[in-house]
Amino acid sequence: QRRGCVGRLLAIESSCDETAAAVVTTDSVVLSNAIHSQVPIHAQYGGVVPELASRSHLTAIRPIIEQALADSNTALSELEAIAVTTGPGLSGCLLVGLQAAKGLAWSLGVPLVPVDHIQAHVHAIHLRDDRGAGGDAPPGVYLALAVSGGHTSLCVVEGPGETRTIGQTIDDAAGEAFDKVAKMMGLPYPGGVHIDRLAKEGRRDAFTLPRPMIRRGLDFSFSGLKTAARNQLEAIGEMGEQQTADFAASVQEAIVDVLVHKALEACRVEGQRELVVAGGVACNSRLRAVISERGAKAGVRVHLTPARYCTDNAAMIG
Ligand code: KG4
Ligand code: ZN
Repeated sequence: QRRGCVGRLLAIESSCDETAAAVVTTDSVVLSNAIHSQVPIHAQYGGVVPELASRSHLTAIRPIIEQALADSNTALSELEAIAVTTGPGLSGCLLVGLQAAKGLAWSLGVPLVPVDHIQAHVHAIHLRDDRGAGGDAPPGVYLALAVSGGHTSLCVVEGPGETRTIGQTIDDAAGEAFDKVAKMMGLPYPGGVHIDRLAKEGRRDAFTLPRPMIRRGLDFSFSGLKTAARNQLEAIGEMGEQQTADFAASVQEAIVDVLVHKALEACRVEGQRELVVAGGVACNSRLRAVISERGAKAGVRVHLTPARYCTDNAAMIG
Protein backbone atom coordinates (compact mmCIF):
# COMPACT_ATOMS: atom_id res chain seq x y z
CA GLN A 1 0.00 0.00 0.00
CA ARG A 2 1.21 3.46 -0.89
CA ARG A 3 2.03 5.53 2.20
CA GLY A 4 1.40 9.25 1.74
CA CYS A 5 3.99 10.83 -0.53
CA VAL A 6 6.69 8.30 0.28
CA GLY A 7 8.40 7.01 -2.87
CA ARG A 8 9.74 3.59 -3.77
CA LEU A 9 13.05 2.64 -5.26
CA LEU A 10 14.51 -0.58 -6.58
CA ALA A 11 17.96 -1.55 -5.34
CA ILE A 12 20.29 -4.07 -6.95
CA GLU A 13 23.36 -5.80 -5.47
CA SER A 14 25.67 -8.17 -7.38
CA SER A 15 29.18 -7.40 -6.13
CA CYS A 16 30.13 -10.91 -5.05
CA ASP A 17 28.21 -14.17 -4.74
CA GLU A 18 24.68 -12.97 -3.99
CA THR A 19 22.29 -11.69 -6.66
CA ALA A 20 19.90 -9.45 -4.77
CA ALA A 21 17.12 -6.95 -5.43
CA ALA A 22 14.95 -5.03 -2.99
CA VAL A 23 12.21 -2.45 -2.99
CA VAL A 24 12.77 0.16 -0.30
CA THR A 25 10.81 3.33 0.43
CA THR A 26 12.45 6.73 0.49
CA ASP A 27 12.06 6.66 4.29
CA SER A 28 14.04 3.39 4.62
CA VAL A 29 11.19 0.88 4.98
CA VAL A 30 12.06 -2.46 3.36
CA LEU A 31 9.09 -3.66 1.28
CA SER A 32 10.90 -6.66 -0.22
CA ASN A 33 14.38 -8.14 -0.05
CA ALA A 34 14.98 -10.95 -2.56
CA ILE A 35 18.28 -12.84 -2.56
CA HIS A 36 19.67 -15.59 -4.76
CA SER A 37 22.70 -17.16 -3.07
CA GLN A 38 25.45 -18.82 -5.11
CA VAL A 39 26.87 -20.79 -2.17
CA PRO A 40 26.05 -24.19 -3.75
CA ILE A 41 27.98 -23.17 -6.91
CA HIS A 42 31.15 -22.10 -5.11
CA ALA A 43 31.10 -24.53 -2.16
CA GLN A 44 32.74 -27.30 -4.20
CA TYR A 45 35.75 -25.02 -4.88
CA GLY A 46 36.04 -23.76 -1.30
CA GLY A 47 35.71 -20.11 -2.36
CA VAL A 48 34.12 -17.75 -4.88
CA VAL A 49 35.10 -18.43 -8.52
CA PRO A 50 34.68 -15.00 -10.20
CA GLU A 51 33.81 -16.26 -13.70
CA LEU A 52 31.15 -18.65 -12.38
CA ALA A 53 29.81 -15.87 -10.17
CA SER A 54 29.34 -13.47 -13.12
CA ARG A 55 27.56 -16.16 -15.16
CA SER A 56 25.23 -16.99 -12.30
CA HIS A 57 24.38 -13.29 -11.83
CA LEU A 58 23.45 -13.12 -15.52
CA THR A 59 20.79 -15.80 -15.20
CA ALA A 60 19.57 -14.80 -11.73
CA ILE A 61 19.31 -11.03 -12.10
CA ARG A 62 16.05 -10.79 -14.01
CA PRO A 63 14.07 -13.32 -11.91
CA ILE A 64 15.36 -11.75 -8.68
CA ILE A 65 14.28 -8.24 -9.79
CA GLU A 66 10.87 -9.62 -10.75
CA GLN A 67 10.62 -11.32 -7.35
CA ALA A 68 11.49 -8.11 -5.48
CA LEU A 69 8.80 -6.23 -7.43
CA ALA A 70 6.19 -8.99 -6.94
CA ASP A 71 6.92 -9.46 -3.21
CA SER A 72 6.36 -5.75 -2.61
CA ASN A 73 3.43 -5.49 -5.01
CA THR A 74 5.26 -2.78 -6.93
CA ALA A 75 4.80 -1.95 -10.62
CA LEU A 76 7.84 -0.74 -12.58
CA SER A 77 6.00 2.52 -13.22
CA GLU A 78 5.92 3.21 -9.45
CA LEU A 79 9.71 3.26 -9.11
CA GLU A 80 11.26 6.67 -8.53
CA ALA A 81 14.91 5.61 -8.75
CA ILE A 82 17.20 2.62 -9.29
CA ALA A 83 20.08 2.16 -6.85
CA VAL A 84 22.95 -0.19 -7.62
CA THR A 85 26.25 -1.28 -6.10
CA THR A 86 29.11 0.15 -8.15
CA GLY A 87 31.99 -1.16 -5.99
CA PRO A 88 34.03 -2.47 -4.37
CA GLY A 89 33.51 -5.99 -5.69
CA LEU A 90 34.33 -8.41 -8.49
CA SER A 91 34.24 -6.40 -11.72
CA GLY A 92 32.43 -9.03 -13.84
CA CYS A 93 29.80 -9.38 -11.10
CA LEU A 94 29.33 -5.64 -10.59
CA LEU A 95 28.89 -5.22 -14.33
CA VAL A 96 25.81 -7.47 -14.44
CA GLY A 97 23.94 -5.51 -11.75
CA LEU A 98 25.06 -2.19 -13.19
CA GLN A 99 23.87 -2.97 -16.73
CA ALA A 100 20.49 -4.20 -15.46
CA ALA A 101 20.12 -1.05 -13.36
CA LYS A 102 21.17 1.25 -16.20
CA GLY A 103 18.72 -0.37 -18.60
CA LEU A 104 15.86 -0.04 -16.15
CA ALA A 105 16.68 3.54 -15.16
CA TRP A 106 16.98 4.59 -18.81
CA SER A 107 13.77 2.89 -19.91
CA LEU A 108 11.78 4.27 -16.94
CA GLY A 109 13.33 7.72 -17.12
CA VAL A 110 14.30 7.68 -13.42
CA PRO A 111 17.64 8.49 -11.73
CA LEU A 112 20.35 5.83 -11.43
CA VAL A 113 21.98 6.02 -7.98
CA PRO A 114 25.49 4.53 -7.64
CA VAL A 115 26.12 3.06 -4.18
CA ASP A 116 29.36 2.07 -2.46
CA HIS A 117 29.02 -1.43 -0.96
CA ILE A 118 30.80 -0.65 2.33
CA GLN A 119 28.81 2.54 2.81
CA ALA A 120 25.70 0.41 2.32
CA HIS A 121 26.81 -2.03 5.06
CA VAL A 122 27.35 0.80 7.57
CA HIS A 123 24.00 2.42 6.75
CA ALA A 124 21.94 -0.81 6.98
CA ILE A 125 21.17 0.00 10.63
CA HIS A 126 18.69 2.64 9.35
CA LEU A 127 16.45 0.06 7.63
CA ARG A 128 13.00 -0.66 9.04
CA ASP A 129 10.66 -3.54 8.30
CA ASP A 130 7.55 -5.23 9.63
CA ARG A 131 9.63 -8.03 11.23
CA GLY A 132 11.00 -5.86 14.01
CA ALA A 133 13.98 -4.12 12.41
CA GLY A 134 14.30 -0.41 12.98
CA GLY A 135 14.24 2.02 15.80
CA ASP A 136 17.81 1.37 16.86
CA ALA A 137 19.74 3.67 14.53
CA PRO A 138 21.95 6.18 16.36
CA PRO A 139 20.46 9.67 16.21
CA GLY A 140 23.56 11.46 14.89
CA VAL A 141 27.18 10.79 14.06
CA TYR A 142 28.36 7.26 14.86
CA LEU A 143 31.33 4.96 14.62
CA ALA A 144 30.90 1.83 12.52
CA LEU A 145 32.73 -1.48 12.45
CA ALA A 146 32.09 -3.07 9.05
CA VAL A 147 33.27 -6.66 9.01
CA SER A 148 32.65 -8.98 6.09
CA GLY A 149 34.31 -11.47 3.78
CA GLY A 150 35.89 -8.70 1.73
CA HIS A 151 36.35 -5.84 4.18
CA THR A 152 37.26 -4.93 7.74
CA SER A 153 36.83 -1.20 8.28
CA LEU A 154 36.36 1.23 11.09
CA CYS A 155 34.73 4.45 10.00
CA VAL A 156 33.06 7.52 11.34
CA VAL A 157 29.64 7.95 9.73
CA GLU A 158 28.92 11.67 9.68
CA GLY A 159 25.73 11.59 7.60
CA PRO A 160 24.08 9.73 4.73
CA GLY A 161 26.91 8.69 2.42
CA GLU A 162 29.47 10.64 4.42
CA THR A 163 31.97 8.26 5.96
CA ARG A 164 35.57 8.73 7.03
CA THR A 165 37.66 5.56 7.26
CA ILE A 166 39.97 5.51 10.28
CA GLY A 167 41.11 1.89 10.21
CA GLN A 168 41.12 -1.09 7.88
CA THR A 169 42.83 -4.40 7.30
CA ILE A 170 46.31 -4.41 5.82
CA ASP A 171 45.86 -7.99 4.55
CA ASP A 172 42.91 -10.38 5.00
CA ALA A 173 39.42 -9.34 6.02
CA ALA A 174 37.94 -10.78 9.25
CA GLY A 175 35.48 -12.95 7.30
CA GLU A 176 38.33 -14.23 5.15
CA ALA A 177 40.20 -15.24 8.32
CA PHE A 178 37.11 -17.15 9.52
CA ASP A 179 36.62 -18.80 6.12
CA LYS A 180 40.26 -19.72 5.51
CA VAL A 181 40.78 -21.25 8.97
CA ALA A 182 37.48 -23.10 8.53
CA LYS A 183 38.73 -24.47 5.23
CA MET A 184 41.95 -25.67 6.91
CA MET A 185 39.75 -27.41 9.48
CA GLY A 186 37.88 -29.17 6.67
CA LEU A 187 34.64 -27.24 7.18
CA PRO A 188 32.35 -26.27 4.26
CA TYR A 189 32.45 -22.85 2.55
CA PRO A 190 31.67 -20.23 3.77
CA GLY A 191 33.10 -21.37 7.07
CA GLY A 192 32.36 -18.44 9.41
CA VAL A 193 28.93 -19.70 10.33
CA HIS A 194 30.28 -23.24 10.96
CA ILE A 195 33.00 -21.92 13.29
CA ASP A 196 30.30 -19.94 15.11
CA ARG A 197 28.15 -23.08 15.51
CA LEU A 198 31.00 -25.41 16.59
CA ALA A 199 32.46 -22.82 18.97
CA LYS A 200 29.35 -22.97 21.15
CA GLU A 201 30.53 -26.40 22.42
CA GLY A 202 34.22 -25.45 22.64
CA ARG A 203 36.62 -24.00 25.21
CA ARG A 204 37.79 -20.56 24.17
CA ASP A 205 41.15 -20.90 25.96
CA ALA A 206 41.98 -24.41 24.72
CA PHE A 207 44.46 -23.14 22.13
CA THR A 208 46.74 -20.11 22.33
CA LEU A 209 46.39 -18.02 19.19
CA PRO A 210 47.83 -14.55 18.50
CA ARG A 211 45.82 -11.29 18.48
CA PRO A 212 47.73 -9.57 15.64
CA MET A 213 48.36 -5.82 16.07
CA ILE A 214 45.84 -5.66 18.92
CA ARG A 215 47.53 -2.70 20.62
CA ARG A 216 48.96 -1.12 17.47
CA GLY A 217 46.66 1.53 16.06
CA LEU A 218 43.32 1.06 14.34
CA ASP A 219 44.41 -1.04 11.36
CA PHE A 220 43.90 -4.80 11.37
CA SER A 221 45.97 -7.78 10.22
CA PHE A 222 44.75 -11.36 10.16
CA SER A 223 47.36 -13.17 8.07
CA GLY A 224 49.56 -14.00 11.09
CA LEU A 225 46.60 -15.54 12.89
CA LYS A 226 45.90 -17.66 9.82
CA THR A 227 49.51 -18.89 9.72
CA ALA A 228 49.49 -19.63 13.46
CA ALA A 229 46.26 -21.60 13.02
CA ARG A 230 47.75 -23.56 10.12
CA ASN A 231 50.90 -24.41 12.12
CA GLN A 232 48.86 -25.61 15.11
CA LEU A 233 46.52 -27.65 12.93
CA GLU A 234 49.48 -29.33 11.21
CA ALA A 235 51.04 -30.13 14.59
CA ILE A 236 47.78 -31.62 15.93
CA GLY A 237 46.96 -33.76 12.89
CA GLU A 238 43.60 -35.56 13.12
CA MET A 239 41.19 -33.79 15.51
CA GLY A 240 38.32 -35.32 17.45
CA GLU A 241 34.91 -33.71 17.89
CA GLN A 242 35.75 -31.87 21.13
CA GLN A 243 39.13 -30.71 19.86
CA THR A 244 37.49 -29.32 16.69
CA ALA A 245 35.01 -27.39 18.81
CA ASP A 246 37.84 -26.15 21.06
CA PHE A 247 39.84 -24.98 18.04
CA ALA A 248 36.81 -23.20 16.56
CA ALA A 249 36.14 -21.46 19.89
CA SER A 250 39.80 -20.41 20.27
CA VAL A 251 40.09 -19.00 16.73
CA GLN A 252 36.78 -17.20 17.05
CA GLU A 253 37.87 -15.70 20.37
CA ALA A 254 41.11 -14.37 18.85
CA ILE A 255 39.28 -12.69 15.94
CA VAL A 256 36.50 -11.31 18.15
CA ASP A 257 38.98 -10.04 20.73
CA VAL A 258 40.85 -8.00 18.07
CA LEU A 259 37.64 -6.62 16.50
CA VAL A 260 36.12 -5.57 19.83
CA HIS A 261 39.34 -4.10 21.20
CA LYS A 262 39.94 -1.95 18.08
CA ALA A 263 36.31 -0.86 17.73
CA LEU A 264 36.22 0.39 21.33
CA GLU A 265 39.67 1.97 20.97
CA ALA A 266 38.34 3.81 17.88
CA CYS A 267 35.37 5.08 19.93
CA ARG A 268 37.78 6.35 22.58
CA VAL A 269 40.10 8.05 20.07
CA GLU A 270 37.16 9.70 18.25
CA GLY A 271 35.21 10.53 21.41
CA GLN A 272 32.24 8.52 20.08
CA ARG A 273 29.65 6.82 22.27
CA GLU A 274 27.56 5.23 19.50
CA LEU A 275 28.91 2.15 17.73
CA VAL A 276 27.24 0.32 14.83
CA VAL A 277 28.34 -3.21 13.95
CA ALA A 278 27.62 -4.36 10.39
CA GLY A 279 28.67 -6.76 7.60
CA GLY A 280 28.46 -10.56 7.34
CA VAL A 281 30.76 -11.23 10.31
CA ALA A 282 28.43 -9.12 12.47
CA CYS A 283 26.16 -12.22 12.40
CA ASN A 284 28.70 -13.94 14.64
CA SER A 285 27.02 -14.71 17.95
CA ARG A 286 30.18 -14.33 20.04
CA LEU A 287 31.05 -10.95 18.44
CA ARG A 288 27.49 -9.74 19.13
CA ALA A 289 27.69 -10.81 22.79
CA VAL A 290 31.21 -9.57 23.56
CA ILE A 291 30.94 -6.20 21.82
CA SER A 292 27.63 -5.47 23.59
CA GLU A 293 29.07 -6.44 26.98
CA ARG A 294 32.42 -4.67 26.68
CA GLY A 295 30.76 -1.69 24.97
CA ALA A 296 28.38 -1.25 27.91
CA LYS A 297 31.33 -1.34 30.34
CA ALA A 298 33.11 1.34 28.29
CA GLY A 299 30.00 3.56 28.17
CA VAL A 300 29.46 2.93 24.44
CA ARG A 301 25.96 2.21 23.08
CA VAL A 302 26.28 -0.70 20.67
CA HIS A 303 23.80 -0.99 17.76
CA LEU A 304 23.76 -4.45 16.19
CA THR A 305 22.51 -4.58 12.60
CA PRO A 306 19.77 -7.26 12.25
CA ALA A 307 21.39 -10.43 10.84
CA ARG A 308 19.31 -10.34 7.61
CA TYR A 309 20.82 -6.94 6.77
CA CYS A 310 24.39 -7.94 7.77
CA THR A 311 25.19 -10.45 5.02
CA ASP A 312 25.05 -9.09 1.47
CA ASN A 313 21.57 -7.91 0.49
CA ALA A 314 20.00 -5.25 -1.72
CA ALA A 315 17.90 -3.52 0.95
CA MET A 316 21.08 -1.95 2.36
CA ILE A 317 21.90 -0.61 -1.12
CA GLY A 318 18.43 0.97 -1.15
O1 KG4 B 1 28.84 -9.15 4.07
P1 KG4 B 1 29.05 -10.48 3.47
O2 KG4 B 1 27.82 -11.30 3.15
O3 KG4 B 1 29.86 -10.40 2.14
C1 KG4 B 1 30.91 -9.52 1.90
O4 KG4 B 1 30.68 -8.32 1.67
O5 KG4 B 1 32.07 -10.03 1.97
O6 KG4 B 1 29.99 -11.31 4.46
C2 KG4 B 1 30.30 -12.65 4.26
C3 KG4 B 1 31.26 -13.09 5.35
C4 KG4 B 1 31.84 -14.49 5.09
O7 KG4 B 1 33.23 -14.44 5.31
C5 KG4 B 1 31.16 -15.33 6.16
O8 KG4 B 1 31.92 -16.44 6.60
C6 KG4 B 1 30.97 -14.33 7.28
O9 KG4 B 1 30.58 -13.14 6.62
N1 KG4 B 1 29.98 -14.77 8.25
C7 KG4 B 1 30.29 -15.12 9.52
C8 KG4 B 1 29.06 -15.53 10.13
N2 KG4 B 1 28.06 -15.40 9.21
C9 KG4 B 1 28.64 -14.92 8.06
N3 KG4 B 1 31.45 -15.13 10.17
C10 KG4 B 1 31.43 -15.55 11.46
N4 KG4 B 1 30.31 -15.95 12.10
C11 KG4 B 1 29.11 -15.95 11.49
N5 KG4 B 1 28.01 -16.35 12.14
ZN1 ZN C 1 29.26 -7.14 1.82
